[in-house]
Amino acid sequence: MSPKKKTILAAGIEKSRIPEIYRRLTPHYDFWGRLTESKARSRCLELAAIRDGESVLEVAVGTGLVFERLLKANPNGRNEGIDLTEAMLSKAKVRAEGTGVRNYRLSIGDAYHLEYPDETFDVLINNYMFDLLPEADFPALLSEFNRVLRHGGRMVVVSMTLGKPWFNALWKAVYRLNPAWLGGCRGVKLLPDLVGAGFEKTKREFISQKGFPSEVVFGIKSGKL
Ligand SMILES: C[S@@+](CC[C@H](N)C(=O)[O-])C[C@H]1O[C@@H](n2cnc3c(N)ncnc32)[C@H](O)[C@@H]1O
Repeated sequence: MSPKKKTILAAGIEKSRIPEIYRRLTPHYDFWGRLTESKARSRCLELAAIRDGESVLEVAVGTGLVFERLLKANPNGRNEGIDLTEAMLSKAKVRAEGTGVRNYRLSIGDAYHLEYPDETFDVLINNYMFDLLPEADFPALLSEFNRVLRHGGRMVVVSMTLGKPWFNALWKAVYRLNPAWLGGCRGVKLLPDLVGAGFEKTKREFISQKGFPSEVVFGIKSGKL
C-alpha cells in the first residue's frame, strides 16, 4: 500500500446521503466555511485568474461563497454553477442575485456526469467536494472535469487535506464516530491523480487556517489525451 493510501480515510458517507446531510448543514454552513476555509477559497480565485468574458463552471457551489465572487470577476462572461443539494443551491441563488450580475445559471447537477459538451469551459473550479467522496473515484471525476475544459483551460480544486498529526488524530477519531458530524469531510491529497487525468503544469499549495488544513491544486488541460 502506498503512503498516500495509508493516510487517507475511506469516505464515510454514501453519495445518496449527501443531499440530506447538507440540507441539515445549510443554515450553519457559512459560519464554518468562513472561519476555517476562506483563505483557501480566496487562493482558488487568485489561481483561477478569471478574465471577464470567460466561460466558467463551478462544481459543488454549496451556498455560493465562491460563486458570488466569481460573478463579480466575470460579469460579462458565462457563469455556470451546479450542486447536488437543493438547499445549498437555494442559498447560492440568493447570494448570486445580490451581486446584480445576471449572466449566470445555478442548477442541480452531479460532478460525476457533467451535462455539458466536451471543451465548453475556460475555467473549472471546485471547493471542498473531493474530501467527501471515495478516493477510488478521484481519477474519473478529474477526467470528467478535464473533458468539459477547453485545451489550455484552468482547473483549481480546493479540498480538506491532512494537517498536523494531532489534528489528523482528532479528526479521525470523530470521523470514525460519525462522519456526518463533519459533513463527511476528511483530509485527501489530489495532486497524484492530476497528470493521469490529462492535466499539466500541476501544482499544490498547502494552506492552514485556524489549524484547519486545506490544499489548493491547479492544473491546465493538456493537449495530450
Ligand atoms: C463542503 S460543501 C462545499 C460547498 C462549497 N463549494 C464551499 O466551498 O463552500 C460540499 C458540497 O458538495 C456538494 N456535492 C457533493 N457531492 C457532489 C456531487 N457529486 N456533485 C455536485 N455537488 C456535490 C454538496 O451538496 C455540498 O454542497
